Amino acid sequence: MSHRTRALWLAFALAAASAPVATVVAQEHVGAEACGSCHEAQYKKWQASGHSMSLARLTKSQRRDRVCRSCHTMVANQDEPKLQGVQCESCHGAGSHYSPRWVMQDPVLSKLYGLEPVTDATCKPCHTGDGPSLKAFVYKEKVVHVCHVEKTETAKGTE
Ligand code: HEC
Ligand code: HEC
Ligand code: HEC
Ligand code: HEC
Repeated sequence: MSHRTRALWLAFALAAASAPVATVVAQEHVGAEACGSCHEAQYKKWQASGHSMSLARLTKSQRRDRVCRSCHTMVANQDEPKLQGVQCESCHGAGSHYSPRWVMQDPVLSKLYGLEPVTDATCKPCHTGDGPSLKAFVYKEKVVHVCHVEKTETAKGTE
């Protein structure tokens, strides 16, 4: 079986069992730079945002603090430089399975492989009343700051 056929078969098997992929094979984070190799525009916009700087901005001791890390970086217990800050996969889901091009090109397969829809619930774990902000987090007002580019902006190398 070809790589693609095997993967499609797996996707059908998973769909039939209605089991989320994550429970079958652990999803791993690849880091923003890997996503950025295809999504250059989104990467640049993200890089200039508070999310990308959210860990680097803290003091040295705060950067080690488990509580701060739970919201200021993508994977609290990982020190890898490429995973620091609030990254793509904090909102879109861990991408080791969906980030290969042949998966990404298929919206249905991408979802089966862990690409998550971004909703109010995506932000809530971090944007809670516990944050330093005095104003309540209103999704509709905030999401416009993280929607990256025009919908017409496609991934690099797609015609
Ligand atoms: C090898 C290239 C490649 C890599 C790496 C890649 N993508 Fe994609 N991605 C694509 C392509 C191609 C599409 C299809 C739509 C398009 O052309 O923009 C896409 C679509 C998407 C979409 C839109 C899906 C939809 O249904 O609207 C999101 C969100 C996304 N990618 C996020 C990510 C994230 C996050 C990462 C890193 C974990 C990533 N991508 C890595 C190529 C890639
Ligand atoms: C529950 C999640 C959460 C935790 C835990 C958390 N933060 Fe934050 N923090 C946020 C969010 C969300 C923002 C940005 C929105 C806001 O201002 O409320 C923020 C903003 C900040 C800012 C302001 C950034 C700027 O320049 O605008 C600082 C500084 C900060 N946090 C430090 C800390 C420190 C230090 C800790 C650990 C003691 C910590 N935070 C723990 C969620 C959290
Ligand atoms: C704070 C959350 C958040 C982060 C971080 C984030 N995104 Fe997104 N992303 C969104 C939202 C919201 C949308 C719009 C979703 C929609 O319209 O359904 C989106 C849409 C996209 C799309 C579809 C095309 C577009 O621009 O609307 C791609 C591709 C994408 N993101 C890639 C990335 C990549 C790559 C990164 C990291 C460099 C990233 N995202 C970081 C929230 C985020
Ligand atoms: C993993 C935790 C996390 C997630 C998930 C997350 N954020 Fe954030 N967000 C933060 C932190 C931490 C900051 C502060 C960054 C800094 O240092 O400036 C922040 C800052 C922001 C800011 C700039 C400050 C402000 O309040 O105006 C906006 C806008 C924002 N986030 C929107 C969103 C939206 C919309 C989503 C969901 C689609 C989201 N974030 C998901 C942690 C998170």
